[in-house]
Amino acid sequence: MIDPSIVRVALEGLLAPRKTLPPFLFYDEEGCRLFYEITALPEYELTRTERGLLPEVGRAVAAEVGPNAVLVEYGASHEEKAGFLLATLGAFQRYIPIDVAAPALRQLQDRMALSYPGLSVLPVAADFMLDLVLPPMPAEAPILGFFPGSTIGNLEPHAARDFLVRVRATLGPGARFLVGADLRKSPALLIPAYDDAAGVTAAFNRNLLVRLNREAGADFDPLSFRHEARWNDSESRIEMHLVSRRDQTATIDGTPIHFAEGESIHTENSYKHTPQRLLALARQAGWIERRRWMDPAERFGHFLLEQG
Ligand code: AVI
Repeated sequence: MIDPSIVRVALEGLLAPRKTLPPFLFYDEEGCRLFYEITALPEYELTRTERGLLPEVGRAVAAEVGPNAVLVEYGASHEEKAGFLLATLGAFQRYIPIDVAAPALRQLQDRMALSYPGLSVLPVAADFMLDLVLPPMPAEAPILGFFPGSTIGNLEPHAARDFLVRVRATLGPGARFLVGADLRKSPALLIPAYDDAAGVTAAFNRNLLVRLNREAGADFDPLSFRHEARWNDSESRIEMHLVSRRDQTATIDGTPIHFAEGESIHTENSYKHTPQRLLALARQAGWIERRRWMDPAERFGHFLLEQG
């Protein structure tokens, strides 16, 4: 079925002089499945390194926030990572997972009713990039925001700063925020992580075109676009592109879009900040660092922020 809002965003991106598609389009059912596969790839260390740090981070952070706290997770379609914080008995009384995917939140709530019987789970189905209203919380309860998975790296720096400002306003004075971020490292490690030997990331990238064929009335030949991961050193980011293998015209809901051979659709940025750059963004949004945890090679960091 054609979704007019998807037609609109696709045309807006593809009729621009430099063609782009917004990365939120990756995450249809197949895209979520492929992303899950990416997280287990040998070349994609991000998720494994983050997870390796979480038991220690979970214990330390739960002790920092004190008892009867509220955990607010941004982008929480699964409770796995929050589980490392919630495992500390008595630390958290309420868990507020925020995600756009209402069905995933319902499943999460059902699972958690069984595995965390004493915990009150209050899902919020919303886009966390917009202003949010959280369920009422006891005035004296300590609040911890949680933004794992390096999703912050998929935001343009100005959008990351605006997001951090909004989180501060939403969580209120005294709240803390735990942010997990993949860090700047050698392109020799990053390129394979975004262009893996098994071709899963390529399929994830091309799935955008498959989705547009289904939901925007488009007629792309996905295999006529090559997946490319590029390291942009001055911006400190990995870029994903779909590069047209030939001169071709595709249509979206009847509107023709021409692609020259070698022309690219820029589909994603994944910023790899240094800790300094990330903390500078946080500072501009009114947050200061309280603690950090990194793996020995300093490839991934969890940053506990408090209000400055
Ligand atoms: C969700 N996000 C942190 C992933 C990343 O690494 O930027 C998305 C992704 N794109 C390609 N591979 C993984």
